[in-house]
Amino acid sequence: MKVLLATSKPFALQAVQGIQNVVETAGLEFEKIENYTEKSQLLDAVKDADALIVRSDKIDGEVMDAAKQLKLIIRAGAGYDNVDLDAATSRNICVMNTPGQNANAVAELVFGMMIYMQRNKFDGSVGRELINRRLGLYAFGNVAKKVARIARGFNMAVYAYSPALTHDDLRKEGEYGVITAYSNRELFENSDIVSLHMPLLEDTRNCIDYKLLAYMPKDGLLINTARKEHIVEDDLIRIMEERPAFQYVTDIKPDKHEIFLEKFPNRYFATPKKSGAQTTEANRNAGIAAAHQAVMFLKSGDDKYRVN
Ligand code: 3PG
Repeated sequence: MKVLLATSKPFALQAVQGIQNVVETAGLEFEKIENYTEKSQLLDAVKDADALIVRSDKIDGEVMDAAKQLKLIIRAGAGYDNVDLDAATSRNICVMNTPGQNANAVAELVFGMMIYMQRNKFDGSVGRELINRRLGLYAFGNVAKKVARIARGFNMAVYAYSPALTHDDLRKEGEYGVITAYSNRELFENSDIVSLHMPLLEDTRNCIDYKLLAYMPKDGLLINTARKEHIVEDDLIRIMEERPAFQYVTDIKPDKHEIFLEKFPNRYFATPKKSGAQTTEANRNAGIAAAHQAVMFLKSGDDKYRVN
């Protein structure tokens, strides 16, 4: 049986070697297609794959139809919005992710971005410190929990809100030192800096709109290491036009990147390429976890971390 690693954005060499080692030690065949630029290359490579390990690569019904033997797709990472779950389910293909494996890399980037913006992109003008500032975490999964822990080291007050958790659930997260918000409004009202950590689902698409952003302080900072689809871009542009000190920093280039850049050169920053999970450690953790999950599934049908 064959495990195919298909990454248009390749993993670090160490991670690829680790994946290959896990797969071959289990007596399975390993193949990889990295840095591919055309969908046709992927369609060709998946033909005889039993399991497919990917990153943000778009896996739709056409890819699944080209892979006649495919039983498993593993998104080596957290967000699986790049995989068509309905198409997979209707073809009896199991889809998994590797939750938490790249969370630390994303959490560290949040602080890199936060300091960069609060020091005005290091332009020499007077900036702000993080100490005693109020940080709001929208959603409270693996990344947000790590952000909360690091924020304690900066002596920030951390608020969290998640529609998926009850207030009591969040209170049990006391070890993270977070103050729970009852609503997204309460979160935005009580935070100088808001960091987004929700998955992309139908009800989290466009969830950051003018009304919500308007609850933030005039000099608020919005940090996005989640997905661009969470933001109503025209609403964010409007807020930034109305509030000359409001900042936005993101790891995912908005569709209106050029407009943000032109209008707010000093208060907006987008990483040139999505960098949240781009560390050797995160690549290794997510990639090798995916390899183990593939082996367990193909050998014994273990479908822990199934998402469809
Ligand atoms: C994730 O969902 O795990 C992150 O967005 C990382 O995505 P990437 O593997 O495309 O860098």
